[in-house]
Amino acid sequence: MTDTIKVLGISGSLRKGSFNSALLREARALAPDGMTVDVADISAIPLYNDDVREKGYPAPVQTLREQIGAADAVLIVTPEYNYSIPGVLKNAIDWASRPPAQPFDGKIVGIMGASPGRLGTARAQYHLRQCFVFLNSTVLNKPEVMVGGAANVFKEGRLADDTTRGFVEDLLKALAVAVEKQRKLAD
Ligand SMILES: Cc1cc2nc3c(=O)[nH]c(=O)nc-3n(C[C@H](O)[C@H](O)[C@H](O)COP(=O)(O)O)c2cc1C
Repeated sequence: MTDTIKVLGISGSLRKGSFNSALLREARALAPDGMTVDVADISAIPLYNDDVREKGYPAPVQTLREQIGAADAVLIVTPEYNYSIPGVLKNAIDWASRPPAQPFDGKIVGIMGASPGRLGTARAQYHLRQCFVFLNSTVLNKPEVMVGGAANVFKEGRLADDTTRGFVEDLLKALAVAVEKQRKLAD
């Protein structure tokens, strides 16, 4: 029997009615057999301060680092703020990315995002990819899931568009394939 594939989802929005958090919830619901998608809570992570880090990781950061370390893959769902990624998401990644044993090293990462605009977070997603170059993560190139016109595809907090749901399912399947490949290499 193969081990369950554990995916950790991180939404870059703290807003209750967030389209991106709704997209992550949908991914959780659409996870194929043999995969679980847990959702990280980054709302209590303080602003990065290296003086604080030197004294020890704050509890919410430590939890996030452990969750990333324990996951087979990370699924980041990013809003786009001023053509880039939101500060809260960058801040969480910055905290998680410090030594020892930075947990993004070699980690499989999938990216998606939603915005009311037409480009569906395309610009933010390319900035996010750049961060993971430094962190030496394995970011899936495809499928790209950029959900534009979010106000029309989400209804009452649910993704109400079958085409977009199909894109999310494709991304989850691609994460599963990447994890299986990584496991085979590690055997
Ligand atoms: C500070 C700020 C900057 C924004 N910049 C962009 C942008 O560059 N591109 C875009 O498509 N939407 C932009 N938006 C609109 C967001 O896409 C929109 O607020 C979206 O709903 C945020 O994601 P959420 O629903 O998950 O919270 C911006 C919103 C804020 C608050």
